[in-house]
Amino acid sequence: VTGDLAGLAAGTYMRGMPFVQVPTTLLAMVDASVGGKTGVDLPQGKNLMGIFKQPLSVIMDTQVLDTLPDAELRSGMAETIKHAVIAEEKLFGELEQNTKKLFWWRGQRGHAWLVRSLKVKIAVVKEDPFEQDTRAVLNLGHTIGHALEKMSGYTLRHGEAVSIGLAVEAQVASRLGLAGAALPHRIEALLDAWGLPVRCPPYRTSSILKAAAFDKKKRGSRMRWALPIRIGEVRIVEDVPLELVANVLQQMGAGE
Ligand SMILES: NC(=O)c1ccc[n+]([C@@H]2O[C@H](COP(=O)([O-])OP(=O)(O)OC[C@H]3O[C@@H](n4cnc5c(N)ncnc54)[C@H](O)[C@@H]3O)[C@@H](O)[C@H]2O)c1
Ligand SMILES: [Zn+2]
Repeated sequence: VTGDLAGLAAGTYMRGMPFVQVPTTLLAMVDASVGGKTGVDLPQGKNLMGIFKQPLSVIMDTQVLDTLPDAELRSGMAETIKHAVIAEEKLFGELEQNTKKLFWWRGQRGHAWLVRSLKVKIAVVKEDPFEQDTRAVLNLGHTIGHALEKMSGYTLRHGEAVSIGLAVEAQVASRLGLAGAALPHRIEALLDAWGLPVRCPPYRTSSILKAAAFDKKKRGSRMRWALPIRIGEVRIVEDVPLELVANVLQQMGAGE
């Protein structure tokens, strides 16, 4: 949050001044500090005020993770798992093998995971820095995730909301026939094994869908979903039938 706010301030003060990102959470290290998106949330929705502003550099000292609470480490894991689903099948497998090793993030092995997670993000951002097209794959889990995060009054951590979003959207992909039936189970099992939530809070389904549609409309576009096809491949899909999403949401805990 500090990095997003500082980036927005640096990008607008006197029409822009250079700044450096120094992330101190796992989430900011594996994701938010890199890529140049900065912004702040408003009560009406996520990131409603924001700009693209690349930092001069990003400086990470992973020793600061020593004091980061486990719940915040888990929150960062959600974005790591997202990156693994997008393009790092091997990392996904390693995370499946080592589910009880949250503490690894504070050591050498965590460094290796961090680098691999970042490589996924950097490759995507380099190809499409201003999200004209392919960068949208990074929104995996976020169509539903952002809606839930906002509806929780920001009491759900970003990574927790994204975790539920990943579980829901994987189920949607499977119901659409884009992914096999095993995929949502595999993604959900990994998130759950790392202690992340995968059940939807009992919010009204219609309200969740409304919040999700609002989140996308701000870009003046139709709803575009980043959906997992298999571990290592995500596709952008438009025109997902909302009745199908509603059905999945209710099956996963949302209210009528
Ligand atoms: N700009 C992007 O590309 C991007 C990408 C992903 C997420 N985000 C945004 O990031 C935000 C979430 O960021 P976050 O998860 O870092 O949350 P956060 O910044 O709220 O930090 C979580 C908590 O950890 C504390 N903390 C930070 N560093 C610590 C440390 N080293 N030791 C102990 N405590 C520490 C903070 O004070 C805070 O209470 C969301 O608003 C999300 O939308 C942005
Ligand atoms: Zn995110």
